[in-house]
Amino acid sequence: MASQVLFLFFMSLLLFLTISPYFVSGGGPQFSYMGPSGPQRWGSLSPTYSACSNGKFQSPVNIIKSKCVSGRHLKQLDIEYHVAVNATLVDNLFNVAMNYDGNAGIFRLNGKNYSLVQMHWHSPSEHHLGGVRYDAELHLVHKSVDGEVSVIGVLYRYGHPDPLLSKIQTKLAQLQKMVHSSSHEQTQIAIGTITTHEIRKHTRKYYRYVGSFSTPPCTEGVIWNILGKVRSISREQVAALKAPLIIGCKSNSRPVQPLNGRKIEMFNDEMSH
Ligand SMILES: *[C@@H]1O[C@H](CO)[C@@H](O)[C@H](O)[C@H]1NC(C)=O
Ligand SMILES: *[C@@H]1O[C@H](CO)[C@@H](O)[C@H](O)[C@H]1NC(C)=O
Repeated sequence: MASQVLFLFFMSLLLFLTISPYFVSGGGPQFSYMGPSGPQRWGSLSPTYSACSNGKFQSPVNIIKSKCVSGRHLKQLDIEYHVAVNATLVDNLFNVAMNYDGNAGIFRLNGKNYSLVQMHWHSPSEHHLGGVRYDAELHLVHKSVDGEVSVIGVLYRYGHPDPLLSKIQTKLAQLQKMVHSSSHEQTQIAIGTITTHEIRKHTRKYYRYVGSFSTPPCTEGVIWNILGKVRSISREQVAALKAPLIIGCKSNSRPVQPLNGRKIEMFNDEMSH
């Protein structure tokens, strides 16, 4: 009898943990990628999320090369990531992220310094290239001192492992164990120092447009830089990134949004070398 009661208790606890509203970082209500808290409904979940439905310049988008304009004033991405930086691996429940202290590196854009503050992953990809959705996408989020945001996006297709994720493989496994042993809450692990220089490779071709955060509150004014070179990631690595996420967020990519007249600029320096 007692064991039955215990069993029922654990089953209802499990059910509670599966369906109860989680609160995401930033204090807004839970959102997910399917059902009543899915992308179609984000704008109605909270007044602070209204840009998700009312915004006209949202992300992600489908990048069609033949419709891009040549960004003659654009230059090669000016990235200076430090060799060794302090990072923390975080399970945000809707994504896995690496947060950096303010000293991780700088992306110089239009005469302004944007510091690298976070990397996080989506799978499948959020941006499409020529109508193609890839297997994963990495977002390198940079912030300027006056609060402006610029993101560098990297697309991946299944293949060889990604070297950056290989370095944190054991930490990712640890994160998953912590999630399973604690009740599903935000969990984090100090990574210590990590080198991120390989991100600087293959940045000679990119697409730029102005959009928004691809997650609530969908704030606009974000300068996006999507790299033209698609990299590779292993199926195991994508599975490890999905494992700590809650049900409804395992597949965490927002559908593409209308351009509403926006032009995407293309920069390609590969030909001239
Ligand atoms: C990383 O953080 C630790 C503890 O906060 C600090 O002692 C160390 O100097 C930092 N390392 C770097 C490269 O910033
Ligand atoms: C940007 O950072 C560099 C150091 O990497 C510094 O020399 C420069 O003065 C900074 N520029 C601005 C506009 O803050």
